[in-house]
Amino acid sequence: MRRPIVAGNWKMHGSRAENAELIENLLSHCPENLRAACVVCPPFVYLQEAARLLRGSPFLLGGQDVCAESHGAFTGEVSASMLKDVGCEYVIAGHSERRLLYRESDQLVARKVHAAHGKGLQPILCVGEQLADRDAGRTHDVVARQLDAVLELCGTAFLEQGAVAYEPVWAIGTGRNATPEQAQDVHAFIRTRIAARDARIAAATRILYGGSVKAGNAAELFAMADVDGGLIGGASLKADEFLTILAAADKCG
Ligand code: 13P
Repeated sequence: MRRPIVAGNWKMHGSRAENAELIENLLSHCPENLRAACVVCPPFVYLQEAARLLRGSPFLLGGQDVCAESHGAFTGEVSASMLKDVGCEYVIAGHSERRLLYRESDQLVARKVHAAHGKGLQPILCVGEQLADRDAGRTHDVVARQLDAVLELCGTAFLEQGAVAYEPVWAIGTGRNATPEQAQDVHAFIRTRIAARDARIAAATRILYGGSVKAGNAAELFAMADVDGGLIGGASLKADEFLTILAAADKCG
């Protein structure tokens, strides 16, 4: 059985005071013996402090992005080994905001996954179509292209501990989540595509759904056969919402 993952992508939100309050609320109300892996991904500058506050808790730490290069003259970038050094175990790669706002190509995302996996970080590879792609019936084509670029460069080994997150761009921050059936369709497609390369790894790969997941819709999304948890944006900034989502993931699978 696949161990679910719930990851909170805080994006560019928070402050030292707000993060401390959020973490304190998460820790004081978090159930014991969680089956789901629970990850929080604060902005880079807050990682070290979050690591300190989360020490000894079931929460794991993740970065929101990573440089494809290992070190050197890359002003503003943060390497995989630096993320490891401050306590990260996971890292998001290829989030649609990086792809669309910062023009990250499929090939760059693949190099980021490669760099992360090479340093022992578990990548959470994001894929997902824009509304125009869905309306034109190109959802599977877009997701296949994004996924294949990574599988070509990295193989499938990173999926053993890492994850794929299906995040339809039209569902991110819009309040309009994919229906459970829409999510299941793409998740099953992703699993089949991985299985064409390695059936054992495909069966073990956690495929997370992201895009307007809330306390009120998490259970029905996570009940789908190929949905193994979620990548949560806005709702991860509210402790009670995030803990309800986490409890829903704990029951899935
Ligand atoms: P929302 O949950 O705010 O829609 O964001 C999803 C997301 O982008 C997580 O990475």
